[in-house]
Order: sequence, then structure tokens, then C-alpha cells
Amino acid sequence: MISNRLVLALFLSLCSLTVFAAEPPARARASAKVDLQGRLKEALNNPKLYEPLLKTGGQVAAVCDRCHGVGGNSPTPDVPNLAGQNTVYVLEQARQFADGERHHEFMRRMIKVMTSDEKIGFSLFYGNQKVKPAPATNLALAAKGRVLYTKDCESCHEDHGRGDEHLARVAGQQPVYLTVALKRSRAGSGARVDRDMAKTLSTYADGDIDAVVAYMMSMP
Ligand code: HEC
Ligand code: HEC
Repeated sequence: MISNRLVLALFLSLCSLTVFAAEPPARARASAKVDLQGRLKEALNNPKLYEPLLKTGGQVAAVCDRCHGVGGNSPTPDVPNLAGQNTVYVLEQARQFADGERHHEFMRRMIKVMTSDEKIGFSLFYGNQKVKPAPATNLALAAKGRVLYTKDCESCHEDHGRGDEHLARVAGQQPVYLTVALKRSRAGSGARVDRDMAKTLSTYADGDIDAVVAYMMSMP
């Protein structure tokens, strides 16, 4: 009679065999189901995997430069910076674009044809870049924005605004992109709207949004 432990061990090894068998080769199409976040975690803990992926990411980023800027500092106020975004967050947004959960036709088509290692690579690459915040030009407006941010936004976005695995970095982000996101949220329209945030913003005049944006874009 085989012991329970052996049965369990056999079961587990069969499971992992299935997992490995299901894992497509590195150049497999992005549509194949790969545990992207799992492989990213693995890379973060294994320099032998991390280094080549980071290198791939740096090469892939040449495709993104045109819109997101060299090193992810966007030259265009309505296109977001990717520099300094959380690696896990970037990868998750890429998945959402590809799956059509986050809507942007160009991003969807582009990400869909990329391999999982390319996606993990650019996420690592951008997470490693430094964002260049825009110095506040209107100091009075940014000061007003700081008061609003501290009162209404800090509870979720924290005093530094640098984001985390589930939340976008807002610090140093492009002003038009931020304004559009806030107005969309205030209107409660479309996807990517946080209910509590929308409630807070419903009390905001356009001038309040301008102020909080002036502050966030200048945050390091
Ligand atoms: C033709 C212009 C263009 C190119 C090229 C482009 N992007 Fe984008 N990307 C955008 C726009 C515009 C948005 C904002 C979409 C929105 O508002 O939801 C965006 C959003 C993103 C976001 C979400 C950022 C956030 O803060 O939530 C990520 C991640 C991203 N792009 C990654 C990439 C990567 C990686 C590449 C290159 C492989 C790339 N993009 C190439 C235009 C582009
Ligand atoms: C209750 C928590 C909460 C509060 C309070 C809050 N937010 Fe948010 N915010 C979120 C969440 C969650 C998201 C992400 C929504 C998503 O991706 O689906 C978000 C997204 C954003 C985005 C979009 C970022 C991007 O790159 O797409 C901006 C900008 C933003 N918040 C600014 C603010 C400002 C300014 C305030 C204060 C006036 C504020 N938030 C208050 C939770 C909050």
C-alpha cells in the first residue's frame, strides 16, 4: 500500500509536470497563457533570468520611445510616462490592454503580438528608469494642489504618490494625462474608475483638478 505522503508527492509532481508542459517556449505568441506575474516574480529573485529579460526590455523599449519617450519620460503631455512605474503594475496594464479590459486599440494590437518575455522585459526596464518630474511653474497653484492632495488623495495614493503593484504612479506624471484621468473619474464614466475616488472628485471644480495636477506632476 502506498502512503498518503507518496500519493500527495506524486500528485504534486504531476501537477508541476502539467504546468511545465503548458509553459510555451520563450518565443511563443503572447496569446498563449503564461503566468506572466509568476515569471516576473521568478525573474526578480533570479539574476540569471533577470539580466537577459532586462536587456530584452531595453531593446523592446525602442518601439515605445516614439510615444512614451526615451527611458519612459514622455515628450507629450497626454501620453503617460512609464519611467518609475511599478513593474508589476506595468505588466498588469499590458495584460489588460491585450485582453481588451483596458481600452486602447493601438496598445492592444501592439501588446498582443509581443512575447511574454518581451512584456516582462519592458516592465522591468521601465520600473528601473527614473521619472523626470516637471518643476511647478505656477507655485501658488501647486501649493493649493498640495493641500487638496494631502486632504483627499493621500489616504490611497500615499504622500509620495509613487504607486504600487495595484496603483499607478501619479508623482511626476504628465499633466494632460492626469487631467483626463481625473475628469473621467469625476464623471464616473468609462473603465478604470475607483468609486471612492470618484465620490471625492465629484466635489472638485475644474480649478481644483488643475491644482492637484500641478502638484502631482511636480512630485519627485
Ligand atoms: C503610438 C503611441 C504609443 C506607442 C508606440 C506605445 N504606447 Fe503605450 N500608451 C499610449 C497611450 C496614448 C497610452 C494611454 C492610454 C490610456 O489613456 O489608457 C499608453 C499607455 C500605456 C501604459 C499604461 C500606463 C499607465 O500609467 O497606466 C503602458 C504600461 C504602456 N502604454 C506601455 C507601452 C509599451 C511597453 C510600449 C512599447 C512596447 C508602448 N506603450 C508603446 C501610446 C503609445
Ligand atoms: C479610495 C482610494 C482613492 C482615493 C481617495 C483617491 N484615489 Fe486615485 N485612484 C485610486 C485607484 C484604486 C485608482 C486606479 C483605478 C484603476 O486603475 O482602475 C486610482 C487612479 C488614479 C489616477 C489615474 C492614474 C493613471 O495613471 O491612470 C489618478 C490621476 C488619481 N487616481 C489621482 C487621484 C487624486 C488626485 C485623488 C484625490 C483628489 C485621488 N486619486 C484619490 C484610488 C483612490
